Amino acid sequence: MALLVLLGLLDSCKTQLVPRTTFAIGSPGRAVTHFSSPGIENTTTLLLSNDNATLYVGARDSVLSLDVSEPGVMKMRSKVDWSPTAQEVNLCTTKGKNKMDCHNFVRVLQSLNSTHLYACGTFAFSPKCSYMNVETFSDSSVRAQDGQGRCPFDPFQRNTAVTADGELYVGTVENFLGNKQAISRFLSRRGRTDLKLDGSPGWLTDPTFIGSSFIPSEGKVYFFFTETSKEYNFVNDYTVSRVAQVCVNDEGGKLVLQKHWTTFAKAELRCQAGKDLPLNIIQDIFTLPPPEGAPADDTLLYGVFSSQWPMVSGQSAVCGFRLGHIKEVFAGSYYKLNQQDSSRWETPQSSAKIANPGECGMHDAADDKLNFVRSNFLTQRSVTPVDKGLVLVSPDQLYSRIAALRTQAANGRTFTVLFLLTESGFLHKVVLLDKGPHIIEEIQVFQQPQSVKNILLSISKGVVFVGSSEGVVQIPVSSCLSYSNCAECVLARDPFCGWDPDRASCAELSDILHGVVQDVEQGNAAEVCEASQSSTSPCSSTFPVEERSVQLDKVVRLACPRASRQAEVSWQGPDGSLPTDLYLQLGDGSLSFLATRRTQGTYCCLATENGYTQTLTVISVRASATSLLSSVQGPTLSLTIVFIYLTLI
Ligand SMILES: *[C@@H]1O[C@H](CO)[C@@H](O)[C@H](O)[C@H]1NC(C)=O
Ligand SMILES: *[C@@H]1O[C@H](CO)[C@@H](O)[C@H](O)[C@H]1NC(C)=O
Ligand SMILES: *[C@@H]1O[C@H](CO)[C@@H](O)[C@H](O)[C@H]1NC(C)=O
Repeated sequence: MALLVLLGLLDSCKTQLVPRTTFAIGSPGRAVTHFSSPGIENTTTLLLSNDNATLYVGARDSVLSLDVSEPGVMKMRSKVDWSPTAQEVNLCTTKGKNKMDCHNFVRVLQSLNSTHLYACGTFAFSPKCSYMNVETFSDSSVRAQDGQGRCPFDPFQRNTAVTADGELYVGTVENFLGNKQAISRFLSRRGRTDLKLDGSPGWLTDPTFIGSSFIPSEGKVYFFFTETSKEYNFVNDYTVSRVAQVCVNDEGGKLVLQKHWTTFAKAELRCQAGKDLPLNIIQDIFTLPPPEGAPADDTLLYGVFSSQWPMVSGQSAVCGFRLGHIKEVFAGSYYKLNQQDSSRWETPQSSAKIANPGECGMHDAADDKLNFVRSNFLTQRSVTPVDKGLVLVSPDQLYSRIAALRTQAANGRTFTVLFLLTESGFLHKVVLLDKGPHIIEEIQVFQQPQSVKNILLSISKGVVFVGSSEGVVQIPVSSCLSYSNCAECVLARDPFCGWDPDRASCAELSDILHGVVQDVEQGNAAEVCEASQSSTSPCSSTFPVEERSVQLDKVVRLACPRASRQAEVSWQGPDGSLPTDLYLQLGDGSLSFLATRRTQGTYCCLATENGYTQTLTVISVRASATSLLSSVQGPTLSLTIVFIYLTLI
């Protein structure tokens, strides 16, 4: 029953979720800068310098520094080679690993302070890490140390890393076999010990780490991962998405929980609408800071989710979670791990509660309290999405990475814009409207599906970077000039773009002095654009006419240049409407018919979108008589020929 409801819901979302425009790789109209270089591969880990002028890229056997100070430019500044020796590669292959994977795939790249980066790579299934001086960025900056526990051995295993006050927080697989995972702190400063969370029952059950976020106002690092659930013991191998937390001031216990987290707590992160099946597998998470002046609790965490069940496996959804709600859940009640059977969770008596799990400062607590938090760390409540629902459900796209920003429209309203990377290699730009999500455009960023890829949004630069095995791509968040007239500019509903009446062009809001025309919420071009064409005679008489000479009795095909995939395309002929026994309108919007005396005349292709109709093309067809057959055929026969013609091409 729940499933039927879910499928019904997915179906209803389908129509509005077609991207309005599509830009294939290399197509004009949408500026995309591509970086790739011979001998440089797997450019998948991205880090922007503090001054936003340099993009560091963790690649295969190297770390690159790219100059990105100018918009639309990505130039290699320097490159640090960092490869395993032939001997180390040999050792890797003798252990049964594929030679292709016995490289050093750089998977951790973090900024420690103003002068140093910290990088870790898989190093032929024997991870290594190194400090890198950003000023003398050269091969001599690699001084490798053991990277076990900080970086996966296998380049296809996911991991997460984040720095807070120069200390490194990681979630990763930490052995060669791939069956041990941990959440740890390394590079601990001020004489503190490194901490971890590992094999103890119930802490982590076969997790896959997705992301992490340091929230300074809370003094906490949040981790996001999936794991096998033990609390739902009525479903076998049920995967749950989790948010976990640790406090940055944790120092570990003195006897109990020595060198281990005393502030670890975890909760289910549930992306679910009403009573439908949850989309239970988190793929990526993005932390959107609160609007200016709003409290930290208004921080939103946007996650992309997919499903474990085959019935819904081609679908994905976006859910937003409020930090304030996550804090409430962690401050609430907890399950207790059964001491005899660690796969069982019990609901304890509230009188048994002697400590607040997840509370910062726990490392100073007495042993009995530490023993308590050691078995009470899973919250009873789940974290549920804002507005109790899904921000977006895509029935046919598997989204895998997400970034988000808030931007102010011309009327002062703030809109959230999501950037979603699809498995098939497109970047979807989505604006969240009251009525639901609207996909402004999709831009192809890689050609082959990529198992490892990352997305990095820089608001100050106004660009999105995507790193994959095909290279690094830089995409400006908007490209207003690609909208050729006021209607297109308004119908796009891009909050970054507005129509500038003075210059008669679609431009970035910040570049328009006054009189900006924009309607993000409604996209009502008929109302806000002057010289509206949507009146009684939509086939505009001012439109330039294209002449077309054809032979009588030959099949004619008129193409209609299509701007928007959300528009409905229709044709008008010499007598207005087009009888279906003479004309065929094809799926790509083109019109086909047989040239006869009757079908001569002026045709115009119209696009109707969001209640606004505009002329896309006007073609005048003149037929000249050369054929012998001309007047013999009737309309029915003509149409048959059109059909035969169409099945042949
Ligand atoms: C770099 O970007 C960050 C985040 O977008 C911003 O806060 C900062 O002001 C920028 N720095 C410079 C020098 O542009
Ligand atoms: C940055 O960190 C590195 C490595 O710990 C250290 O050697 C260096 O002195 C630090 N630089 C500053 C400016 O603190
Ligand atoms: C590295 O790139 C190659 C293609 O260039 C790809 O086949 C391989 O899967 C990538 N490996 C990783 C770990 O990303």
